[in-house]
Amino acid sequence: LTGAITLDPGYKNSGSCKSAITFLDGEEGILRYRGYAIEELANNAHFLEVSYLIIFGELPTEKQLEKFENDIRKHTLVNEEMKGIIDGFPKHAHPMGVLSSLTCALTAFNPTVVNVENENQMYEAICKIMGKFLVIATWTYRKTIGYPLNYYDNTKPYVENFLRLMFELPTGPYKVNQTVLNAIDKLFILHADHEQNCSTSTVRMVGSSHAGLFASISSGVSALWGPLHGGANQAVLEMLEEIQKDGGDADKFIEKAKDRNDPFRLMGFGHRVYKNFDPRARIIKKAADDVLAELGVDDPILNIAKQLEEKALKDEYFVSRNLYPNVDFYSGIIYRALGIPTEMFTVMFAIGRLPGWVAQWKEMRENKEPIGRPRQIYIGEPLRKFKTMNER
Ligand code: SDX
Repeated sequence: LTGAITLDPGYKNSGSCKSAITFLDGEEGILRYRGYAIEELANNAHFLEVSYLIIFGELPTEKQLEKFENDIRKHTLVNEEMKGIIDGFPKHAHPMGVLSSLTCALTAFNPTVVNVENENQMYEAICKIMGKFLVIATWTYRKTIGYPLNYYDNTKPYVENFLRLMFELPTGPYKVNQTVLNAIDKLFILHADHEQNCSTSTVRMVGSSHAGLFASISSGVSALWGPLHGGANQAVLEMLEEIQKDGGDADKFIEKAKDRNDPFRLMGFGHRVYKNFDPRARIIKKAADDVLAELGVDDPILNIAKQLEEKALKDEYFVSRNLYPNVDFYSGIIYRALGIPTEMFTVMFAIGRLPGWVAQWKEMRENKEPIGRPRQIYIGEPLRKFKTMNER
């Protein structure tokens, strides 16, 4: 070989970037949005307030937050022709695949979001995606159960609209349970941004070609779908249900996860960055206890999860590899207790992550970053001469 090409460390946009949005310390298990600790935000703020902070950089005043919510309300109507697109999907289509397609399709009905030349156009594109994404995300669920598609109610707050869009029936008004509403609001905050994870890096990469905000977000949805990333929350529940069906023996599955010849991994454990407890997992675990207690839900799945966590945290294999529960380990248990169907768990993650994707796309465009173009270390064949068919 001619030897590996040494990459110029300064090679522009080789995949890593400078960002002022989220700070992560994987060793210490620290997560901050725009300098504010995740624990403080999760316990004191609401999702749209945190979305404003992440996107625009400061906690909003009362007036700023009201204006933001009202500007989003101007764009919560989704073009009726989008229903023709969703009707083209089979009922069993996974909601994440439908959501990614619908998000990109929104561009056709909102062409101005592609070339954002100034602050106003960017702000309008942001309000459009914040309004419409929530609606189409719930449509992916309503489609799977064959229920009529709901519309955003501009007299109600953002997160309450999520519950109504998901569960309100024409037969009568949906009764909001405050415990459920508070838990969903907190879960969205905990998922709102996470630095340069797989889906966010995808949004920045696609956005760097100026493909437009909706196309960039659509690519983030596709990346999040994978079971090693956002799809893990659904995979955790499926794993816990498998353990339950198999008799609930946590030790057996811990051993399976340790077996190098067995592809089985403990879903919801491990992280590319956190080599300590994922701070979000701590908050979600407490919320899971509170929500199940408040709702009077005694879910054996939660007990299996606690057993798995307890045993894994004492097991040398996991301890030596710094494998701790991550954000996905407990979130599925709360979603299940809140009546969210399993195949919608990753859509929940996407709704929470939307402001982070938007903020990272905005930052990349405002910084006029060049088109993403990571380089490689070539390990293929050196130069060789062409061979005619007889010589091969
Ligand atoms: C998210 O990046 C982000 O910020 C993502 C996210 C966000 O908010 O955007 O935090 C959300 O994606 C959380 C992660 C959700 N995924 C899962 O829970 C899936 C299960 N976890 C693993 O697949 C894994 O831990 C990853 C993908 C999360 C991280 O993989 P790494 O860092 O590449 O870990 P690795 O493959 O290098 O593993 C190191 C060792 C290996 O063993 P050895 O080769 O040392 O013998 O740890 C083992 C792995 O086999 N290992 C596991 C394991 N995770 C890693 N063994 C059993 N079960 C696991 N879950």
